[in-house]
Amino acid sequence: MAKLAISENISPADCEKTLAGIIRVMVNKEERVTDPDLKPDDRLDQSLRPVSLADLIGQNQVKENLEILIAAARQRGEPLDHVLFYGPPGLGKTTLAHILANEMGVNIKITSGPAIERAGDLAAILTNLRAGDILFIDEIHRLGRAVEEILYPAMEDYALDIVIGKGPSARSIRLKLPRFTVIGATTRLALVTSPLRARFGAVYRLDYYDQPAMQLIISRAAQLIDVTADGEGIAEIARRSRGTPRVALRLLRRVRDFSQVRGNGCIDRNCAMEALNLLAVDGLGLDDVDRRVLLAVIDKYNGGPVGLSTIAASISEEPDTIMDVVEPYLLQLGFLERTSQGRVATRQAYDHLGKKYPVQEKQPRLIE
Ligand SMILES: Nc1ncnc2c1ncn2[C@@H]1O[C@H](COP(=O)(O)OP(=O)(O)O)[C@@H](O)[C@H]1O
Ligand SMILES: [Mg+2]
Repeated sequence: MAKLAISENISPADCEKTLAGIIRVMVNKEERVTDPDLKPDDRLDQSLRPVSLADLIGQNQVKENLEILIAAARQRGEPLDHVLFYGPPGLGKTTLAHILANEMGVNIKITSGPAIERAGDLAAILTNLRAGDILFIDEIHRLGRAVEEILYPAMEDYALDIVIGKGPSARSIRLKLPRFTVIGATTRLALVTSPLRARFGAVYRLDYYDQPAMQLIISRAAQLIDVTADGEGIAEIARRSRGTPRVALRLLRRVRDFSQVRGNGCIDRNCAMEALNLLAVDGLGLDDVDRRVLLAVIDKYNGGPVGLSTIAASISEEPDTIMDVVEPYLLQLGFLERTSQGRVATRQAYDHLGKKYPVQEKQPRLIE
Protein backbone atom coordinates (compact mmCIF):
# COMPACT_ATOMS: atom_id res chain seq x y z
CA MET A 1 0.00 0.00 0.00
CA ALA A 2 2.84 2.37 0.92
CA LYS A 3 4.53 1.56 -2.42
CA LEU A 4 1.33 2.27 -4.30
CA ALA A 5 0.93 5.52 -2.41
CA ILE A 6 4.47 6.65 -3.24
CA SER A 7 4.35 5.66 -6.90
CA GLU A 8 0.95 7.23 -7.46
CA ASN A 9 1.73 10.23 -5.29
CA ILE A 10 -1.37 9.86 -3.12
CA SER A 11 -1.47 9.83 0.64
CA PRO A 12 -1.48 6.40 2.31
CA ALA A 13 -4.73 7.34 4.06
CA ASP A 14 -6.48 8.07 0.75
CA CYS A 15 -5.03 4.96 -0.70
CA GLU A 16 -6.42 2.90 2.17
CA LYS A 17 -9.84 4.48 1.75
CA THR A 18 -9.91 3.75 -1.98
CA LEU A 19 -8.89 0.14 -1.44
CA ALA A 20 -11.48 -0.27 1.31
CA GLY A 21 -14.08 1.08 -1.11
CA ILE A 22 -13.03 -1.31 -3.87
CA ILE A 23 -13.10 -4.26 -1.47
CA ARG A 24 -16.53 -3.25 -0.18
CA VAL A 25 -17.91 -3.10 -3.71
CA MET A 26 -16.32 -6.43 -4.59
CA VAL A 27 -17.67 -8.12 -1.49
CA ASN A 28 -21.14 -6.61 -1.47
CA LYS A 29 -21.54 -6.29 -5.21
CA GLU A 30 -24.05 -3.54 -4.71
CA GLU A 31 -25.61 -2.24 -1.52
CA ARG A 32 -29.32 -2.63 -1.02
CA VAL A 33 -31.00 0.35 0.49
CA THR A 34 -33.71 -1.92 1.93
CA ASP A 35 -31.23 -4.35 3.49
CA PRO A 36 -32.26 -4.57 7.15
CA ASP A 37 -28.77 -5.72 8.19
CA LEU A 38 -26.64 -3.16 9.98
CA LYS A 39 -24.45 -1.05 7.65
CA PRO A 40 -21.70 1.41 8.69
CA ASP A 41 -23.98 4.24 7.65
CA ASP A 42 -26.55 3.14 10.26
CA ARG A 43 -24.28 3.80 13.26
CA LEU A 44 -25.99 7.17 13.64
CA ASP A 45 -29.24 5.33 14.35
CA GLN A 46 -27.89 4.34 17.71
CA SER A 47 -28.50 7.86 18.92
CA LEU A 48 -32.11 7.43 17.78
CA ARG A 49 -32.63 4.30 19.84
CA PRO A 50 -35.46 4.56 22.32
CA VAL A 51 -33.97 4.26 25.81
CA SER A 52 -36.95 3.20 27.88
CA LEU A 53 -39.88 0.85 27.36
CA ALA A 54 -42.21 3.84 27.41
CA ASP A 55 -40.27 5.35 24.47
CA LEU A 56 -40.53 2.17 22.44
CA ILE A 57 -43.09 2.34 19.68
CA GLY A 58 -45.06 -0.77 18.67
CA GLN A 59 -44.39 -4.41 19.71
CA ASN A 60 -47.10 -3.92 22.32
CA GLN A 61 -47.38 -7.52 23.38
CA VAL A 62 -43.64 -7.93 23.91
CA LYS A 63 -43.60 -4.60 25.71
CA GLU A 64 -46.34 -5.62 28.10
CA ASN A 65 -44.66 -8.93 28.87
CA LEU A 66 -41.36 -7.19 29.50
CA GLU A 67 -42.99 -4.70 31.84
CA ILE A 68 -44.24 -7.60 33.95
CA LEU A 69 -40.88 -9.36 33.80
CA ILE A 70 -39.08 -6.22 34.98
CA ALA A 71 -41.59 -5.39 37.72
CA ALA A 72 -41.49 -8.94 39.08
CA ALA A 73 -37.68 -9.05 39.13
CA ARG A 74 -37.57 -5.67 40.85
CA GLN A 75 -40.11 -6.71 43.48
CA ARG A 76 -38.14 -9.83 44.31
CA GLY A 77 -34.87 -7.88 44.21
CA GLU A 78 -33.48 -10.42 41.76
CA PRO A 79 -31.75 -10.07 38.40
CA LEU A 80 -33.89 -10.42 35.30
CA ASP A 81 -34.65 -13.87 33.95
CA HIS A 82 -32.71 -14.87 30.81
CA VAL A 83 -34.47 -13.47 27.74
CA LEU A 84 -34.29 -14.52 24.09
CA PHE A 85 -35.48 -12.26 21.27
CA TYR A 86 -35.95 -13.58 17.78
CA GLY A 87 -37.18 -12.16 14.50
CA PRO A 88 -35.92 -10.65 11.25
CA PRO A 89 -33.05 -8.12 11.39
CA GLY A 90 -33.70 -4.44 12.12
CA LEU A 91 -36.82 -4.84 14.29
CA GLY A 92 -35.31 -3.81 17.62
CA LYS A 93 -33.67 -6.83 19.31
CA THR A 94 -30.49 -4.97 20.22
CA THR A 95 -32.51 -1.91 21.17
CA LEU A 96 -34.61 -3.99 23.57
CA ALA A 97 -31.52 -5.45 25.22
CA HIS A 98 -30.28 -1.91 25.91
CA ILE A 99 -33.69 -0.86 27.17
CA LEU A 100 -33.79 -3.78 29.61
CA ALA A 101 -30.36 -2.83 30.97
CA ASN A 102 -31.52 0.73 31.31
CA GLU A 103 -34.78 -0.15 33.02
CA MET A 104 -33.01 -2.46 35.47
CA GLY A 105 -30.21 0.07 36.00
CA VAL A 106 -27.48 -2.49 35.31
CA ASN A 107 -24.42 -2.75 33.05
CA ILE A 108 -24.67 -4.44 29.69
CA LYS A 109 -21.80 -6.33 28.10
CA ILE A 110 -22.24 -6.88 24.39
CA THR A 111 -20.89 -9.76 22.37
CA SER A 112 -22.01 -12.10 19.63
CA GLY A 113 -22.03 -15.79 18.77
CA PRO A 114 -19.29 -15.66 16.14
CA ALA A 115 -17.12 -13.35 18.31
CA ILE A 116 -16.79 -15.93 21.08
CA GLU A 117 -14.51 -18.40 19.38
CA ARG A 118 -13.22 -20.49 22.23
CA ALA A 119 -14.66 -21.69 25.52
CA GLY A 120 -11.92 -19.67 27.26
CA ASP A 121 -13.20 -16.45 25.70
CA LEU A 122 -16.62 -16.97 27.25
CA ALA A 123 -15.10 -17.98 30.60
CA ALA A 124 -13.16 -14.68 30.62
CA ILE A 125 -16.33 -12.70 29.88
CA LEU A 126 -18.34 -14.54 32.55
CA THR A 127 -15.78 -14.09 35.30
CA ASN A 128 -15.77 -10.35 34.68
CA LEU A 129 -19.51 -9.93 35.17
CA ARG A 130 -20.94 -8.34 38.27
CA ALA A 131 -24.16 -9.30 40.02
CA GLY A 132 -27.19 -8.24 38.01
CA ASP A 133 -25.19 -7.46 34.84
CA ILE A 134 -26.65 -8.25 31.45
CA LEU A 135 -24.66 -10.24 28.91
CA PHE A 136 -26.10 -9.59 25.46
CA ILE A 137 -25.21 -12.29 22.92
CA ASP A 138 -26.23 -11.30 19.42
CA GLU A 139 -26.58 -14.00 16.73
CA ILE A 140 -26.65 -16.54 19.52
CA HIS A 141 -27.42 -19.33 17.04
CA ARG A 142 -23.82 -19.04 15.86
CA LEU A 143 -22.21 -20.03 19.17
CA GLY A 144 -19.86 -22.98 18.91
CA ARG A 145 -20.66 -26.26 20.62
CA ALA A 146 -17.87 -26.06 23.18
CA VAL A 147 -18.82 -22.49 24.06
CA GLU A 148 -22.47 -23.45 24.50
CA GLU A 149 -21.50 -26.19 26.94
CA ILE A 150 -19.91 -23.55 29.18
CA LEU A 151 -22.99 -21.40 28.92
CA TYR A 152 -25.46 -24.05 30.15
CA PRO A 153 -24.25 -24.31 33.79
CA ALA A 154 -23.50 -20.59 33.79
CA MET A 155 -27.10 -19.76 32.94
CA GLU A 156 -28.68 -22.45 35.06
CA ASP A 157 -26.56 -22.66 38.20
CA TYR A 158 -24.39 -19.54 37.86
CA ALA A 159 -21.37 -21.81 37.82
CA LEU A 160 -18.30 -22.14 35.65
CA ASP A 161 -16.73 -25.55 35.32
CA ILE A 162 -13.03 -25.41 34.62
CA VAL A 163 -10.79 -28.38 33.90
CA ILE A 164 -7.27 -28.00 35.23
CA GLY A 165 -4.43 -30.13 33.93
CA LYS A 166 -4.48 -32.91 31.37
CA GLY A 167 -4.76 -36.69 31.30
CA PRO A 168 -5.26 -38.71 34.50
CA SER A 169 -4.26 -35.82 36.75
CA ALA A 170 -6.88 -33.50 35.27
CA ARG A 171 -9.50 -32.30 37.69
CA SER A 172 -12.50 -30.13 37.36
CA ILE A 173 -13.28 -27.25 39.64
CA ARG A 174 -16.47 -25.28 39.84
CA LEU A 175 -16.32 -21.51 40.18
CA LYS A 176 -19.30 -19.60 41.46
CA LEU A 177 -20.49 -16.76 39.23
CA PRO A 178 -22.56 -13.78 40.30
CA ARG A 179 -26.23 -13.93 39.30
CA PHE A 180 -26.43 -12.32 35.90
CA THR A 181 -28.80 -12.22 32.94
CA VAL A 182 -28.22 -13.46 29.42
CA ILE A 183 -30.14 -11.70 26.67
CA GLY A 184 -29.86 -13.57 23.41
CA ALA A 185 -30.88 -12.36 19.97
CA THR A 186 -31.27 -14.38 16.81
CA THR A 187 -32.75 -14.13 13.35
CA ARG A 188 -33.04 -17.93 13.20
CA LEU A 189 -34.77 -19.49 16.14
CA ALA A 190 -34.71 -22.88 14.43
CA LEU A 191 -30.89 -22.91 14.61
CA VAL A 192 -30.79 -22.32 18.38
CA THR A 193 -30.20 -25.74 19.92
CA SER A 194 -32.99 -26.95 22.17
CA PRO A 195 -30.86 -27.22 25.36
CA LEU A 196 -29.86 -23.58 24.93
CA ARG A 197 -33.41 -22.49 24.18
CA ALA A 198 -34.64 -24.29 27.28
CA ARG A 199 -32.41 -22.15 29.46
CA PHE A 200 -34.21 -18.96 28.57
CA GLY A 201 -37.03 -18.11 30.95
CA ALA A 202 -38.68 -15.85 28.39
CA VAL A 203 -38.66 -16.08 24.59
CA TYR A 204 -40.19 -13.28 22.54
CA ARG A 205 -40.78 -12.97 18.85
CA LEU A 206 -40.51 -9.56 17.26
CA ASP A 207 -42.83 -8.95 14.36
CA TYR A 208 -42.85 -6.50 11.51
CA TYR A 209 -44.35 -3.15 12.56
CA ASP A 210 -47.70 -2.00 11.22
CA GLN A 211 -48.19 1.20 9.25
CA PRO A 212 -49.24 3.46 12.20
CA ALA A 213 -46.25 2.30 14.28
CA MET A 214 -43.87 2.86 11.35
CA GLN A 215 -45.25 6.36 10.86
CA LEU A 216 -44.67 7.17 14.53
CA ILE A 217 -41.12 5.81 14.39
CA ILE A 218 -40.31 7.87 11.29
CA SER A 219 -41.82 11.08 12.60
CA ARG A 220 -39.97 10.66 15.91
CA ALA A 221 -36.70 10.13 14.02
CA ALA A 222 -37.42 13.08 11.70
CA GLN A 223 -37.82 15.32 14.72
CA LEU A 224 -34.65 14.02 16.32
CA ILE A 225 -32.51 14.55 13.21
CA ASP A 226 -34.22 17.82 12.48
CA VAL A 227 -35.86 17.04 9.15
CA THR A 228 -39.09 18.67 8.07
CA ALA A 229 -41.57 16.14 6.76
CA ASP A 230 -45.33 16.26 6.43
CA GLY A 231 -47.76 13.47 7.30
CA GLU A 232 -48.09 12.21 3.73
CA GLY A 233 -44.35 12.16 3.16
CA ILE A 234 -43.89 10.15 6.35
CA ALA A 235 -46.71 7.77 5.40
CA GLU A 236 -45.09 7.13 2.02
CA ILE A 237 -41.72 6.27 3.59
CA ALA A 238 -43.49 4.08 6.17
CA ARG A 239 -45.34 2.12 3.44
CA ARG A 240 -42.08 1.32 1.70
CA SER A 241 -40.01 0.40 4.76
CA ARG A 242 -41.07 -3.27 4.92
CA GLY A 243 -42.27 -2.89 8.50
CA THR A 244 -38.64 -2.54 9.65
CA PRO A 245 -37.41 0.47 11.67
CA ARG A 246 -33.82 0.14 10.48
CA VAL A 247 -34.94 0.30 6.85
CA ALA A 248 -37.26 3.22 7.65
CA LEU A 249 -34.45 5.24 9.19
CA ARG A 250 -32.22 4.57 6.20
CA LEU A 251 -34.91 5.53 3.71
CA LEU A 252 -35.61 8.67 5.71
CA ARG A 253 -31.96 9.69 5.36
CA ARG A 254 -31.96 9.01 1.61
CA VAL A 255 -35.20 10.95 1.10
CA ARG A 256 -33.81 13.79 3.18
CA ASP A 257 -30.76 13.95 0.86
CA PHE A 258 -33.06 13.97 -2.14
CA SER A 259 -35.28 16.73 -0.78
CA GLN A 260 -32.23 18.81 0.10
CA VAL A 261 -30.66 18.52 -3.35
CA ARG A 262 -33.66 18.33 -5.66
CA GLY A 263 -36.51 19.70 -3.55
CA ASN A 264 -37.13 22.45 -1.05
CA GLY A 265 -35.84 20.60 2.00
CA CYS A 266 -39.29 19.52 3.15
CA ILE A 267 -40.32 15.90 2.69
CA ASP A 268 -43.82 15.69 1.22
CA ARG A 269 -45.51 12.83 -0.58
CA ASN A 270 -44.18 13.71 -4.03
CA CYS A 271 -40.66 14.16 -2.82
CA ALA A 272 -40.75 10.83 -0.94
CA MET A 273 -42.23 9.03 -3.95
CA GLU A 274 -39.69 10.41 -6.40
CA ALA A 275 -36.76 9.68 -4.11
CA LEU A 276 -37.90 6.14 -3.37
CA ASN A 277 -38.68 5.40 -7.01
CA LEU A 278 -35.18 6.54 -7.84
CA LEU A 279 -33.88 4.04 -5.26
CA ALA A 280 -35.96 1.34 -7.00
CA VAL A 281 -37.97 0.67 -3.86
CA ASP A 282 -41.55 0.02 -4.97
CA GLY A 283 -44.85 0.92 -3.29
CA LEU A 284 -44.68 -2.07 -0.93
CA GLY A 285 -41.00 -1.72 -0.15
CA LEU A 286 -39.85 -4.44 -2.53
CA ASP A 287 -36.47 -3.88 -4.11
CA ASP A 288 -34.62 -5.47 -6.96
CA VAL A 289 -33.62 -8.60 -5.02
CA ASP A 290 -37.21 -9.26 -3.87
CA ARG A 291 -38.47 -8.84 -7.41
CA ARG A 292 -35.79 -11.14 -8.79
CA VAL A 293 -36.73 -13.82 -6.26
CA LEU A 294 -40.41 -13.59 -7.20
CA LEU A 295 -39.65 -13.48 -10.92
CA ALA A 296 -37.39 -16.51 -10.61
CA VAL A 297 -40.19 -18.50 -8.94
CA ILE A 298 -42.76 -17.30 -11.46
CA ASP A 299 -40.82 -17.37 -14.72
CA LYS A 300 -38.18 -20.02 -14.22
CA TYR A 301 -40.11 -22.44 -12.03
CA ASN A 302 -43.62 -21.83 -13.21
CA GLY A 303 -44.76 -20.37 -9.90
CA GLY A 304 -43.17 -23.12 -7.82
CA PRO A 305 -42.91 -25.14 -5.68
CA VAL A 306 -39.17 -24.62 -5.67
CA GLY A 307 -36.53 -24.89 -2.95
CA LEU A 308 -35.00 -21.78 -1.45
CA SER A 309 -31.42 -22.76 -2.29
CA THR A 310 -32.41 -23.35 -5.91
CA ILE A 311 -33.92 -19.86 -6.05
CA ALA A 312 -30.81 -18.37 -4.45
CA ALA A 313 -28.51 -20.15 -6.90
CA SER A 314 -30.58 -19.17 -9.91
CA ILE A 315 -30.29 -15.46 -9.11
CA SER A 316 -26.74 -15.65 -7.66
CA GLU A 317 -27.69 -14.43 -4.20
CA GLU A 318 -26.63 -15.72 -0.80
CA PRO A 319 -29.12 -18.29 0.54
CA ASP A 320 -28.74 -16.63 3.97
CA THR A 321 -29.91 -13.26 2.63
CA ILE A 322 -32.90 -14.90 1.03
CA MET A 323 -33.72 -16.85 4.21
CA ASP A 324 -33.27 -14.02 6.73
CA VAL A 325 -34.36 -10.99 4.80
CA VAL A 326 -36.22 -11.62 1.56
CA GLU A 327 -38.39 -14.61 2.37
CA PRO A 328 -39.85 -13.48 5.73
CA TYR A 329 -41.11 -10.25 4.20
CA LEU A 330 -42.54 -11.93 1.11
CA LEU A 331 -44.28 -14.48 3.35
CA GLN A 332 -45.63 -11.65 5.47
CA LEU A 333 -47.01 -9.91 2.39
CA GLY A 334 -48.59 -13.19 1.32
CA PHE A 335 -46.55 -13.19 -1.92
CA LEU A 336 -44.89 -16.50 -1.15
CA GLU A 337 -46.21 -19.59 0.52
CA ARG A 338 -44.17 -22.25 2.19
CA THR A 339 -45.20 -25.76 1.21
CA SER A 340 -43.67 -29.13 1.91
CA GLN A 341 -42.20 -29.17 -1.61
CA GLY A 342 -40.81 -25.65 -1.60
CA ARG A 343 -41.91 -22.06 -2.10
CA VAL A 344 -44.93 -21.15 -4.20
CA ALA A 345 -45.72 -17.69 -5.61
CA THR A 346 -49.28 -16.59 -4.83
CA ARG A 347 -51.79 -14.77 -6.99
CA GLN A 348 -50.99 -11.50 -5.15
CA ALA A 349 -47.35 -11.83 -6.25
CA TYR A 350 -48.41 -12.31 -9.90
CA ASP A 351 -50.74 -9.32 -9.64
CA HIS A 352 -48.14 -7.11 -8.01
CA LEU A 353 -45.62 -7.83 -10.75
CA GLY A 354 -48.26 -7.47 -13.46
CA LYS A 355 -47.99 -11.13 -14.45
CA LYS A 356 -50.90 -13.28 -15.55
CA TYR A 357 -51.82 -15.91 -12.97
CA PRO A 358 -51.96 -19.41 -14.52
CA VAL A 359 -55.56 -20.56 -14.94
CA GLN A 360 -55.07 -23.95 -13.36
CA GLU A 361 -55.26 -23.37 -9.62
CA LYS A 362 -52.52 -24.98 -7.64
CA GLN A 363 -53.36 -26.47 -4.26
CA PRO A 364 -50.20 -26.08 -2.23
CA ARG A 365 -49.92 -28.30 0.80
CA LEU A 366 -49.17 -25.95 3.64
CA ILE A 367 -46.94 -27.03 6.45
CA GLU A 368 -47.73 -25.72 9.91
N1 LIG B 1 -39.68 0.21 18.40
C1 LIG B 1 -38.80 1.09 17.92
N2 LIG B 1 -39.04 2.39 17.98
C2 LIG B 1 -38.16 3.27 17.46
N3 LIG B 1 -37.01 2.94 16.84
C3 LIG B 1 -36.71 1.64 16.75
C4 LIG B 1 -37.59 0.65 17.28
N4 LIG B 1 -37.06 -0.55 17.05
C5 LIG B 1 -35.90 -0.32 16.40
N5 LIG B 1 -35.68 0.99 16.23
C6 LIG B 1 -34.56 1.58 15.51
O1 LIG B 1 -34.18 0.67 14.51
C7 LIG B 1 -32.78 0.43 14.54
C8 LIG B 1 -32.54 -1.06 14.43
O2 LIG B 1 -32.89 -1.70 15.64
P1 LIG B 1 -31.98 -2.85 16.28
O3 LIG B 1 -32.37 -2.96 17.70
O4 LIG B 1 -30.54 -2.59 16.01
O5 LIG B 1 -32.49 -4.11 15.45
P2 LIG B 1 -32.02 -5.65 15.51
O6 LIG B 1 -31.07 -5.77 16.66
O7 LIG B 1 -33.30 -6.41 15.69
O8 LIG B 1 -31.40 -5.94 14.18
C9 LIG B 1 -32.26 1.04 15.83
O9 LIG B 1 -31.19 1.87 15.52
C10 LIG B 1 -33.38 1.85 16.43
O10 LIG B 1 -33.04 3.20 16.36
MG1 LIG C 1 -29.04 -6.25 16.42
